[in-house]
Amino acid sequence: MLQSQIFTTDSCNKSAHMKSETPSAGTALVTGGAGFIGSHLVDRLIADSFRVRVADNFSSGRLENLQRHKGERRLEILNADLKNPLMAMEAVRGVDTVFHFAANPEVRVSTTNPETHFNENILATFNLLEAVRKTGVKELIFASSSSVYGEPDTIPVGEDASVKPVSVYGASKAACENLIYAYSRLYGIKAIVLRYANVVGPRLKHGVVYDFIVKLLRSPDSLEILGDGMQLRSYIYVSDAIDATITAWKKTVSAFEVYNVGSEDWVSVNEVADIIMEVMGLKDVKRVYKPVLHGVGWPGDVKQIALSIEKIKALGWRPKMRSREALAEAVRGILADLNIRKGPSS
Ligand SMILES: NC(=O)c1ccc[n+]([C@@H]2O[C@H](COP(=O)([O-])OP(=O)(O)OC[C@H]3O[C@@H](n4cnc5c(N)ncnc54)[C@H](O)[C@@H]3O)[C@@H](O)[C@H]2O)c1
Repeated sequence: MLQSQIFTTDSCNKSAHMKSETPSAGTALVTGGAGFIGSHLVDRLIADSFRVRVADNFSSGRLENLQRHKGERRLEILNADLKNPLMAMEAVRGVDTVFHFAANPEVRVSTTNPETHFNENILATFNLLEAVRKTGVKELIFASSSSVYGEPDTIPVGEDASVKPVSVYGASKAACENLIYAYSRLYGIKAIVLRYANVVGPRLKHGVVYDFIVKLLRSPDSLEILGDGMQLRSYIYVSDAIDATITAWKKTVSAFEVYNVGSEDWVSVNEVADIIMEVMGLKDVKRVYKPVLHGVGWPGDVKQIALSIEKIKALGWRPKMRSREALAEAVRGILADLNIRKGPSS
């Protein structure tokens, strides 16, 4: 059952509010807006005077990520699962722009539950696109992933490189991109696909950075590392990712465009562990490696990936932080979320 809810305020007339409240810059739907990246995007859109509707099924999203907007009449929160076509219709009704960030983002889920990525990513995106088509929404921005490239021959990889995902997660994002391209061509929807590198920052609750922090809090003497620790990745701070998203949206004039969004350097998983331990003030932590195949953490994990960001830089955006800075800042933010102050940075 679709519910319109917002904290403790009366929510029944929220759709009406969205149409009649004080003048705003337009109405945006953020699917997955209660999640990590989505909630930071909501913060930005509200700050920029947009009316915002969040559609989220709260599978990993949390209301507390939006708590700062309690009482904000330009924000409507729908408890809506996009796997249900009727809920997808309700979510898009009356909006100008759709930011589609809802998904199951856990790449590792691919190894045991591939149908999760089919349902949460592909089916949900199809339902959303159908709703966009039927209601005549003209603009969609999609959160894709560097995982669509699979194992590129060289890094950094540009947008023209072949799309050869090696996880069902990556394949699901590639499938969504293709659906979006076809809908854009067929139905005149302006669409922007953003292939993000690893995004980190406060509110993050999944992925290697969060996993390492939680493991080290539980057991500060040793750290299990999935893989040989030599896997290379680039990390982008969430505010940089949001700036890139807004820049791509505002500056793209063509009907369909794909951009990589990452930082300009890359670090190994061992270096990620070093940074986390330093911020947490931990020394002499024993590392226990669990490599599979060619040193990755699990089948479908990628040994090295980093993105060329020249295309989006040409729009005038560039990341303010490099991977190491982004990681250290994110660790501080995640520890603060957990109400933990430790180490030299405290
Ligand atoms: N975090 C990263 O490093 C990263 C990198 C590349 C791409 N992405 C993509 O960015 C988006 C946001 O990722 P995140 O890290 O914020 O993850 P997240 O899990 O914090 O956010 C995803 C949100 O989508 C919601 N959701 C999931 N299935 C849904 C459904 N069927 N209907 C409605 N809501 C649903 C969840 O409840 C959650 O709030 C995802 O599409 C993810 O694939 C993330």
